[in-house]
Amino acid sequence: MTLAVEFRGLNKSFRGVSANRDICLKIKKGSIHAIIGENGAGKSTAMKILYGTYQPDSGDILIDEKVWGGRGKPWASPSDAIHCGIGMVHQHFMLAAPHTVLDNILLGVETSSAVWKWLLPGFRPLDRKSARKKLNQLSAQYGLHVDLDAKVESLSVGVQQRIEILKLLYRDAKILILDEPTAVLTPKETLELFENLKKLCHQGKTVIIITHKLKEVMNLANRVTVFRAGLVVGEREIHETNIEDLACLMVGRKVNIVQEAPPLPVLKGPVLEMKGVSTISHFSGNPSGKAIAKASGGTSSRKLQNIDLSVHGGEIVGISGVEGNGQAELIQAILHPRDHSASGTIRLFGQNIAEMSTEQIKAMGMGVIPDDRLRDGLLLNRPVRENFLLGLQRKVPFNRYGMIAFNQLEEATSLAIKEYDVRPKMTGIRAGALSGGNQQKLVIAREFKYSPKFVIAAQPTRGVDVGAVEFIHKRILKARSEGSGVLLISSELDEILALADRILVMYEGRIIAEFPRGAVTEKELGMKMGGAAQ
Ligand SMILES: Nc1ncnc2c1ncn2[C@@H]1O[C@H](COP(=O)(O)OP(=O)(O)OP(=O)(O)O)[C@@H](O)[C@H]1O
Ligand SMILES: [Mg+2]
Repeated sequence: MTLAVEFRGLNKSFRGVSANRDICLKIKKGSIHAIIGENGAGKSTAMKILYGTYQPDSGDILIDEKVWGGRGKPWASPSDAIHCGIGMVHQHFMLAAPHTVLDNILLGVETSSAVWKWLLPGFRPLDRKSARKKLNQLSAQYGLHVDLDAKVESLSVGVQQRIEILKLLYRDAKILILDEPTAVLTPKETLELFENLKKLCHQGKTVIIITHKLKEVMNLANRVTVFRAGLVVGEREIHETNIEDLACLMVGRKVNIVQEAPPLPVLKGPVLEMKGVSTISHFSGNPSGKAIAKASGGTSSRKLQNIDLSVHGGEIVGISGVEGNGQAELIQAILHPRDHSASGTIRLFGQNIAEMSTEQIKAMGMGVIPDDRLRDGLLLNRPVRENFLLGLQRKVPFNRYGMIAFNQLEEATSLAIKEYDVRPKMTGIRAGALSGGNQQKLVIAREFKYSPKFVIAAQPTRGVDVGAVEFIHKRILKARSEGSGVLLISSELDEILALADRILVMYEGRIIAEFPRGAVTEKELGMKMGGAAQ
């Protein structure tokens, strides 16, 4: 067995927090190796060390069975890693949206013809012709078809991901690291990605994939390594394991993968009523969202068109759809009606909110879990305790005669991070230093603090581990049984099917279908999301 990568006793800590402890890991050449583990287990850190973003405190990495970097030598930077044939696709793609695919791929690896050698590097004309030729060859060889002249912003997230992979291949990567690559993909795009990854492996490349989706691990990987609290706690060949075994290894206890929603409690009056809501403003949301919207066929998908929607107390209404089909605008229309709603009415707890400010609306008893926690949910450079205070600063007991009551804040934050298992349990650590899943748990702890009567939960379990998914689902169901209304916006079919009492499908800014619980299969829902029969 030839090894592509081997970690020997790798250690890494961040100011006293141990992220990787004595990591030993062997990855076979030409295989797909999955890395799974709880939030904060140290998966991204280990892979960022391999990619040269972080330097380890101690330990060695072997590439192709030869020591690379390591003790006593300056550790590699990402450009050294790229030079060694290692490439990484980060969870948030790093493409420049207004530029073409070709420009994005060439950025940073510009080559010019030998004729121009006599000019200083920055002044040599780019050799786009041979770059194009090489890319066309790679596209054909690996089945990664993209239009090199298309602008990135006009492409779906699935295609953008293909470009990220093509970019790595253009740089001659032999080892491809993907950190949670399917978090933003549709089921169809995920299947395509898997086919492409399998093809790459057949041609001798090695793929390392970090994911929280155990179904995907079972469908894709050859072998899986489980991280917990900075340690490797288990390794399995795929044929000798199953989802339950992996979930148990990850969190150290049995996990209920799918929560069974108890029978619907008696519905109360409507908490949210939207009638004929259309928006004209152009919301400048994330580029990937815009991209899908366009790729899915029309330019109108960034606006809402004639939305009729109600959520009752004690009910979970699921909005299912590929991201970028109006979900972000729906949230904006409710939270910022003065800026976004052009026509129609929105009532919250029976009151017309057209002229209200976001603060007034939230103060009526509403919690919001935003789909992009980094942009809308957290101040990454501020400590956890201040992030916990966001939006609650005028509430007793945090506000005393106009001043922040620090002892109360400290106490409430400590309690919340204990209850929601935010790790590490430090109220003073920067929110940006928490792992992705732990950031999500912090936002959820804050938004549920005052038992809101209406909750918007957008992609509430994105990037969280199976144990945390179970916890968050239970928390949402608890809100429902206490009589709160929940608008659950999710592109995870499993999540919508398990939790929602009613499922609405959003496509190009409109609601194109509605199903009561149990009336639709995963496959049918997936097809509707893609605009089937439209
Ligand atoms: N730049 C940083 N500064 C300080 N601490 C960090 C930094 N990056 C990671 N950590 C800490 O290291 C630990 C491991 O984090 P890491 O991001 O590797 O986890 P992960 O397994 O990728 O989790 P997730 O599934 O949530 O993405 C966490 O406790 C995290 O808070
Ligand atoms: Mg991570």
